[in-house]
This record gives sequence, C-alpha cells and structure tokens, in this order.
Amino acid sequence: MKNIETKTIITNRLILRKFKIEDANEMYHNWATDPLCCKFLHWDVHQNLEETKSIIKNWIDKYDNGSYNWVVEKKDTHELIGSICAVTINKNDNIVELGYCYGSKFWGKGYATEALRNVILYLLNECDVYLIEARHISGNPASGKVMAKAGMHLDAVLKNRRINKYTKERNDQIIYSITKEDLKNI
Ligand SMILES: CC(C)(COP(=O)(O)OP(=O)(O)OC[C@H]1O[C@@H](n2cnc3c(N)ncnc32)[C@H](O)[C@@H]1OP(=O)(O)O)[C@@H](O)C(=O)NCCC(=O)NCCS
Repeated sequence: MKNIETKTIITNRLILRKFKIEDANEMYHNWATDPLCCKFLHWDVHQNLEETKSIIKNWIDKYDNGSYNWVVEKKDTHELIGSICAVTINKNDNIVELGYCYGSKFWGKGYATEALRNVILYLLNECDVYLIEARHISGNPASGKVMAKAGMHLDAVLKNRRINKYTKERNDQIIYSITKEDLKNI
C-alpha cells in the first residue's frame, strides 16, 4: 500500500478534501445532529458543537500519520454534506474498509455513490490497495444500493451480527468488496 493520504478528489459535482476545524459548524448542523443519519451508525447524534470540534481536531491530527478521511463538499454551493473515510486500514493484507454518512436532506441525489466510486478509483489506482470492503446492516438497504452502484459486489452475509439501534432487532451484516480486477464494472 502506498500514498496513505487524504488527497483532494474532484468529481463531477463534489469536492472531497481533508477536514478543517472551520468545518465543525456545518458538520454539526448538516449531519452530526441528524437522527436519520445516525440511525444505523455506531455513533449517536452529537450533543454540542464542542463535541464535533473535538472529533474533527482528532481527525486532523491523524492526517500526518497517514489516514483516509474526506469531508464531502458540493462543488456548486460549497455546502458540506457528509463524509467518507477508511474505517480500517489493514496494511498486512492491503485491504481498506470504507464507511460514509450524509445528512438526510442530501440523500437520494447520487452523492454517496459518486463519492464512493471516486474514492474506490483513487485507492485502487493510486494507492495500490488490493481490496476495498464496505459493510452495512440489512436494515439499511440504501447503503447496500450505494455499494452496488459504485461497482462493489456482494461478498458475504453474516447472520444476526448486529443489533439494529432503531428496531432493537438483530440484523445481518452484509459485506461488499471490489478489487482492481473488478474495475471494468464501474
Ligand atoms: C446510505 C446513504 C449513504 C445513501 O446516500 P444517498 O446520497 O442517498 O445515496 P445515493 O443517492 O447515491 O443512492 C441511494 C440509492 O439507494 C436507494 N434507496 C434508498 N432507500 C432505499 C431502501 N429503503 N431500499 C433500497 N434502496 C433504497 C435509492 O433509491 C438510491 O438508488 P437509485 O439511485 O437506484 O434510485 C445515506 O442514506 C446515509 O448517509 N445514511 C446514513 C449513514 C449510513 O447509513 N451510512 C452507511 C453505513 S453502512
């Protein structure tokens, strides 16, 4: 693996770039306090702006040691709509797991797919990552749709692996992946 770096990526409608501390206010209002956004995530809505600032500060500190963590900005309005990051970087096996979240007012416009597809291209083509993985719970099919639309394929269904925060029921965890070999599909 090389270039473990949050390089700025410009897509048709989006700018994916490193977080800045000044992004805290928009992150707080646009997705970190959005209960719909957090419904299927391991974290809960932020309680105050200080919490958002301290999380961003921690992320900024990690850029120097090598991390993938993009804030997603709309090119036309410069609004910040969400983020996409490496949840894990497995250097031994050369595998990166991605996660993403967007404010609900920005859903359904293809932004999550556009960002994921371009991060996949960057990681496979420029960072020599062997395989990119992403996981969602069965109660969150929109996320699986994003993975499939970005060119990933279904790898495995782990039965009853996660408790759905929303319904409190056990849900399956669904794993998608893509390698450089699969790039012809996207
Ligand atoms: C999942 C998420 C990233 C999708 O973002 P988005 O910007 O709406 O994604 P896109 O517009 O690129 O694509 C969404 C697709 O899911 C589809 N979809 C939406 N709700 C769906 C549902 N309940 N079942 C199946 N598909 C669904 C949409 O129709 C769309 O597909 P289409 O373009 O073929 O119509 C967004 O809902 C989100 O941030 N959720 C909260 C955080 C989260 O769950 N992150 C993922 C954790 S694994």
